[in-house]
Amino acid sequence: MNATIYRKLIAKQLNENFKSAVEIVEVSIPKPGVNQLLIQNKFAGVNGGFDTLICRGDVPYVNLIPPFDLGVEAVGEIVAMGENVKDFQIGDAVITTARGGGYREYQVVDANLAVKVRQATPELLTLMPTGVSALVALEQVGEMKSNEVVLVTAAAGGTGHIAVQLAKLAGNHVVGTCSSEAKANLLRELGCDRIINYRTENLNQALKQEYPNGINLIFDCVGKQVFDTCIDNLAIRGRLVVVGFISEYARDVEQITQPRIYHQLFWKAASVRGFLMPHYQEHIPEARDRLLNLFYTGKLKVAVDPTQFQGLESIPSAVQYLLSGQNSGKVVVQF
Ligand SMILES: NC(=O)c1ccc[n+]([C@@H]2O[C@H](COP(=O)([O-])OP(=O)(O)OC[C@H]3O[C@@H](n4cnc5c(N)ncnc54)[C@H](OP(=O)(O)O)[C@@H]3O)[C@@H](O)[C@H]2O)c1
Repeated sequence: MNATIYRKLIAKQLNENFKSAVEIVEVSIPKPGVNQLLIQNKFAGVNGGFDTLICRGDVPYVNLIPPFDLGVEAVGEIVAMGENVKDFQIGDAVITTARGGGYREYQVVDANLAVKVRQATPELLTLMPTGVSALVALEQVGEMKSNEVVLVTAAAGGTGHIAVQLAKLAGNHVVGTCSSEAKANLLRELGCDRIINYRTENLNQALKQEYPNGINLIFDCVGKQVFDTCIDNLAIRGRLVVVGFISEYARDVEQITQPRIYHQLFWKAASVRGFLMPHYQEHIPEARDRLLNLFYTGKLKVAVDPTQFQGLESIPSAVQYLLSGQNSGKVVVQF
């Protein structure tokens, strides 16, 4: 390996706007220590919501003070290894999920945090941690069953398109929301039973008319009015999993004056449950292995958004693209 310097994207200051918070810096490529791998990142997954919130200082469980590293998941190749590393070789393709490990050209990680994969392809970034989040949220938090009605919002997105398929594989009737015909086509290919394009149909009316008994399990990524509509359409003993609230990430929060939601929950014995992947760490290995198996055996289709983002410079545009709601599938950046 000849290179000695690499580049990474850091948050230099907290700012409402991701682009204004970040800068690219050059640093020396570190040597891997005992039990460590040096990985050359080939692709990183873009998590526009988390990236924006962390650069605003709005992720309470981390509370980072700038400067700090950005990005999470990456797929790449091992270019050097420290002493004592077993089960890996130089040239192996690996996927990593470490806060600060994504938006950089190289990273050093403990070998036990890298997962060997067949090839360093962007498709794998739909699985970890995105797909893992979908699986754990549905099963552990949503107590997913079979023969129920499951609603997934932002269904054609990185997280949503995996959630749709997992809910189908579990034997449910799946309703997915999206904002365009192209996304509806993707959802059709994935086997979504009822696709609601919320720009051409009224979500509340469609749910009320077609699902008068309500929705048993809701995987909500969107928040705001969509969350209110979801609560209003829960079935008796329905569960709503708060996976995210992307409609709030790009703008300020709104003031709301309406009855507290316990009125709606109480009379249906329904529940709202928050989900945050870092609080469900113990479920990650099993979920990851199941997803890899489903993917490699062709039972799970994965969608990577076709828009090309090349290099660290493109990451603010990729974040903006995701938050503008245009993407279909997982947004990735290539190094
Ligand atoms: N809790 C966790 O641990 C965890 C882990 C991973 C992801 N998440 C959450 O999962 C959600 C999806 O994340 P992702 O990274 O996979 O993104 P994504 O779904 O690939 O992209 C976001 C999608 O949200 C939809 N959307 C709906 N209303 C929107 C609005 N008002 N503004 C912007 N977008 C809107 C857009 O599609 P349509 O408009 O077509 O629906 C857009 O394509 C986010 O809320 C994220 O925070 C949470």
